[in-house]
Amino acid sequence: MPDIDTAPSLRDLLRSATRIAHDRVDALFGSCDLATPEGYTRFLTAQAAAWETLAPVLDAPSQARLAGVRADLDRLGVPRPAKVEGVETPDAGSLGMRYVLEGSRLGSTVLLRDLAERAPDLIESAGAYFTASSDLSSWKALSTILQSHPRNDASDTTVLADATATFDLFERAFHATARSVAHD
Ligand code: HEM
Repeated sequence: MPDIDTAPSLRDLLRSATRIAHDRVDALFGSCDLATPEGYTRFLTAQAAAWETLAPVLDAPSQARLAGVRADLDRLGVPRPAKVEGVETPDAGSLGMRYVLEGSRLGSTVLLRDLAERAPDLIESAGAYFTASSDLSSWKALSTILQSHPRNDASDTTVLADATATFDLFERAFHATARSVAHD
């Protein structure tokens, strides 16, 4: 039996088990040059496809990000993407899904800081998604929950499966929207 005080928390488990999945979405979304209108639109369109797919199961902090990305696309005159097809969404409130969505605020905060310097006009005119995504309060609250959440094999398996599925959705959303923003 592991010592309960030294066993890794669900938070640690999620971070280590999804590191490779994170690296994949980081590489995909990081390939967009956000300081250009094309790269910014590509990024937001792919994000929007994932958020639209999850719309029925999002909590209020995530709904604010969905509203933000919709508003930005409208401001940019870009059509909203369709949901990603054939996705079975996690249940509303799923800890694994919430971990991925809330954790992604950490990356958004870094990107917003960079964009505010490199492309202030884009952020001024269509920065609702990044602005909503850089509010870290709901990430901090979830992180606290994950650090002390009781663990057992069955629930860990569900949490990890939902986290993996959520990362996978963002990856699929990126590929699914490639054609809609291609220029040739
Ligand atoms: C341009 C793309 C991205 C960049 C540059 C990026 C960058 C980052 C950075 C800097 C962190 C903080 C790492 C730390 O403080 O230890 C982070 C954490 C995280 N990101 Fe990303 N990210 C990107 C895309 C995404 C996407 C698309 C998702 C999911 C939809 C995501 C989910 C997460 C999660 C869950 C964490 C928390 C990791 C943890 O500490 O447990 N990221 N990301």
